[in-house]
Amino acid sequence: MNDADLTRLPADDWDELINPRPVENDFDRVVDAAISRRGFLGGVLAFGSGASAMGTGVMIPATSAQAQATSRFAFDPIGIQTDATVHVPGGYRWDVLIRWGDPIFPDAPEFDHETGGDADSADRIFGENTDGMESFQVGGRQLLAINHEYTNREINLPHATDGVPTGLDDVRKLQSLQGVAVIEVAEDAEGWHVVKDSPMNRRITHLTPMKIAGPAAAHDLLTTEADPTGTESLGTFNNCGSGKTPWGTYLTCEENFNGYFGAKGAVEVSDPVHAGYERYGIGADGWGYDYHKWDDRFDISTHPNEPHRAGWVVEIDPADPDSTPVKHTGLGRFKHENAEVVLASDGRVVVYMGDDERGEFLYRFVSNGTYTPGGPTEGLLDEGTLYAAKFHDDQSGEWLALTPETTGMASLAEVLVFARQAGSAVGATTMDRPEWIAANPHAVEAYCCLTNNKNRGVKPNAGGDETPVNGPNPRETNNYGQIVRWRPENDDHANDRFTWDLYVMAGNPEVYHNIYGGSENITAGNMFNSPDGMAFDSAGLVWIQTDGDDSNEGEFEGMGNNQMLVGDPVTGEIARFLTGPKGSEVTGLTWSTDRRTMFVGIQHPDAPFPDGEGKLPRSAIVAVKRDDGAPLG
Ligand code: FEO
Ligand code: CA
Ligand code: CA
Repeated sequence: MNDADLTRLPADDWDELINPRPVENDFDRVVDAAISRRGFLGGVLAFGSGASAMGTGVMIPATSAQAQATSRFAFDPIGIQTDATVHVPGGYRWDVLIRWGDPIFPDAPEFDHETGGDADSADRIFGENTDGMESFQVGGRQLLAINHEYTNREINLPHATDGVPTGLDDVRKLQSLQGVAVIEVAEDAEGWHVVKDSPMNRRITHLTPMKIAGPAAAHDLLTTEADPTGTESLGTFNNCGSGKTPWGTYLTCEENFNGYFGAKGAVEVSDPVHAGYERYGIGADGWGYDYHKWDDRFDISTHPNEPHRAGWVVEIDPADPDSTPVKHTGLGRFKHENAEVVLASDGRVVVYMGDDERGEFLYRFVSNGTYTPGGPTEGLLDEGTLYAAKFHDDQSGEWLALTPETTGMASLAEVLVFARQAGSAVGATTMDRPEWIAANPHAVEAYCCLTNNKNRGVKPNAGGDETPVNGPNPRETNNYGQIVRWRPENDDHANDRFTWDLYVMAGNPEVYHNIYGGSENITAGNMFNSPDGMAFDSAGLVWIQTDGDDSNEGEFEGMGNNQMLVGDPVTGEIARFLTGPKGSEVTGLTWSTDRRTMFVGIQHPDAPFPDGEGKLPRSAIVAVKRDDGAPLG
C-alpha cells in the first residue's frame, strides 16, 4: 500500500493495518453473550416499564406517541440528502462564515484554488478540517476557538504526487494548516465575518511552543534532546473535539497523534515504551504525513520520547493571544475526543473524556481542589485522580481509580502516559469508540456517542482486552453506533457510582427487524449512523452530529449524507435538522453569545463545497440562523 492509499484510510482502519489484532475464534462464547444481552435489552431499549420497574433512577423516554404530542422542536424535520450542499429546515438559513484558506490576518493572501495556498502563509489563514469549536465573549468581542484536526494531503498539496510531501516546505505547510484557530467574528447586515485586524486572532500549529504541566511533566518518559526538562514541547496534534472550562479557557483534545510519527532507522526501545508504541499504534510508517523524513523530531528511531508529548488535552486562553498553551498530563494520554467539564457538588472539577478507538475506554478526572468563580485555577486540571469506567449489565456502573496501587504501574506519571494500559489493568469496560461526551445543563447526567465498532464481539482491542458484547455496547459488529448516558449517584459527578441506559441505539428499521433496527426512537424518518459530535443547548436539548457511512446503500440506505439531529432527553424524540454535503462529516457546534446563531462545522467535503464546480473542496464553518432572528438554542 503506498502513502496515498494509507492516508485515505480512516485513522482507526490504519491503526489496525499497522497493528493487526488476532482474530477472535471463540465464536460460541460471543454468540452466547450476544443472546443473553438481547434478552436484557428487551427491557432497556423498548424504553418501557421493564426498565423503570428496575428502580435504577435512569431516565426513561416516553413512547413516540407521547413525544409527538409534546415536541419541543421548533422546526419541521428535514429529509435525507445526497447532494453537495447544506440543508436546513424551512424558516432557517445558513451562510458560510469561513473556509479553509481564508485569511484571518490583514497581511494573509486570499485563497488560491490552483495551489491551495503556500507554506509561508499557512499559519496566517484558517486551517484545514475544522472540528471542535467553542464560543467566548471577551471584552465585548465574539471569539471562536476552532480545531483543525488533520489534512487532506492530495488537496492541500496539489503539486505533490498523491499528496506525498516532497520536502520540508510541504511538511511545514501541513504542520501549519493544523492545530487551532482563535478568531474574532462579527455580524453586520451582510452576515457574519472574521475581524481580520482583531488583536485576538491567533493560529496555533504543530510548531507552537507549549508547556507541559501536571504529574507526568519532567518525567523521564517526556524528556528529549531538545527539551531535557520534559516541560516544554512544540505543537498540538490532531485536534479533534473541544471543551470549555468554567474559568473561560478552551480545551483542545489530541486524538490520532500517533500518525505523525515514523522512523528512518531501527527503533530500539524497551518496555514500557515499546508496549506503549504497540498500544497507541506508533510505528515506523506513520499515516503518510512523512514528517519524520524531513523534520527530525518526528523520527522515533532517534527521538523515542517525542510521541509521549502528544495525546494530551491542551488548555488555551483565548483572552490572551500571547499565552502559552498548556498540556495537562493529569487528564491522561490517549486518543482524546473531547473534554466535557462539569462541577461536582462541592465545586471540584470533573472532566469526562473518551478515547476514540475500537474497544478503548471512557475516562473521568476529578480534581483535588475546588473551583470558585474568580478564584485560582492552577492545578485544577492536573492535581486529582483519573478514572476509567466500568459498566455492569444491571445498568449500574462505577469509576475505577487509575493509580500506581490499583494498576501495579511504577508511578503516577507512567499511569498517565500509558493510561490505556492502566485502564486495562483495572478491568475497565471496552467501548464502541467513545467520541464526544456532553453533560445536560438541566440534569445531573452525561451522554457519550459510541460511534460504531465493527470489531465488537470479533476481535480484542489493541491491548488484547477481549471485546465481547456488554451492557452499553450490545451489538456485535456494530456499524451503527449508540449513545450511552449515565447519572451519578446522589446527583454528584464526583460520585464513583452511577446508573446508565442507552439514550438511542442507531439502526435501520427499514432493513432490520432485530437489534440492528435500532431503539424505539429511531424511525424511517430520522435514521442516521455513527453519532460523533454532541452538545447540549441552553434549553437542554441535545444536538447530535454524525460521521458515518454516507453511501445511502445497503444497510445504510435511507440515511443519506452525514447530518445533525436534535434530541429531547426527556421524551427520547429525535429529529433531523441539518444535512451536510456529500463526503463531509458534520462536526463542531457552538452558539453566538446571543444564541441567535448556531455555528456548525463541515469537515472534509468530497464535493466542491462551498465554492462550486471547478473549485477545491474546503472544510468550512457555516452560520445557521432563524429567518425571524430568534434564538435557536
Ligand atoms: Fe476526531 Fe474521533 O473523531
Ligand atoms: Ca469525532
Ligand atoms: Ca468519527
